Amino acid sequence: MALGGRRVISQYRGPGLRARGYLHVRWLVCPFDRVLPLVPTEGRLLDVGCGSGLWLTYLAQERPRLELHGVDPDARKLTLARTSAAASRLHLRPGSVEDVPPAAYDVVTMFDVLCLVPDEVKLSILNESFRALKSGGTVVIKDADTRPWWKYAPTALEELIAVHVLRMTVGRPTFHSLDWFARELASAGFRDVETRRVDRGYVHTHVVLRARKP
Ligand SMILES: C[S@@+](CC[C@H](N)C(=O)[O-])C[C@H]1O[C@@H](n2cnc3c(N)ncnc32)[C@H](O)[C@@H]1O
Repeated sequence: MALGGRRVISQYRGPGLRARGYLHVRWLVCPFDRVLPLVPTEGRLLDVGCGSGLWLTYLAQERPRLELHGVDPDARKLTLARTSAAASRLHLRPGSVEDVPPAAYDVVTMFDVLCLVPDEVKLSILNESFRALKSGGTVVIKDADTRPWWKYAPTALEELIAVHVLRMTVGRPTFHSLDWFARELASAGFRDVETRRVDRGYVHTHVVLRARKP
């Protein structure tokens, strides 16, 4: 694992072996470092579905001028997030994006949340993210594409096992193409939708979308 990942995980104080293993695997399979350059350097950021807080802990190191907020409906994951030394800088709360005030954030991020929830919840999260952003704010979404099939198959299988067999994560996985996400962002009112693949060298179909609230 690269030095960046080790530095982030070393911020966690006393999580059990299983939780530490989870953090290592999560860092290894998710290209957090490739998404970082797409995130503004200052303002108020909300991470939707922040889970164990890996991304927020990384941001606390790399983006010292951001005010960092996170929501997640899974209390177990928030408990793990609170063991990060960065937690004193993080505003964590249970729930989802519909529980935050309107027009309150400059940036909304989410990592592998939309692929985990049914379509009606996906659309609601996109609409609520639009509501939560200030005018001119940015949304950055890291999710999974359905292509190419040889990467999509392990991606889908892994999410299904994580949710239905290991019960590591709450959700009901349903997958869509990158184009579908771009269309739905535009339908939610976002403009200047940019898409990019960040899956080179990874076994999963990692893609990123960035868009702006007018
Ligand atoms: C695959 S995990 C990713 C966690 C974290 N974003 C990361 O990258 O490590 C997906 C997260 O989405 C959360 N989640 C599920 N349904 C959600 C919803 N409706 N709103 C917000 N988060 C949700 C889960 O509790 C879980 O923590």
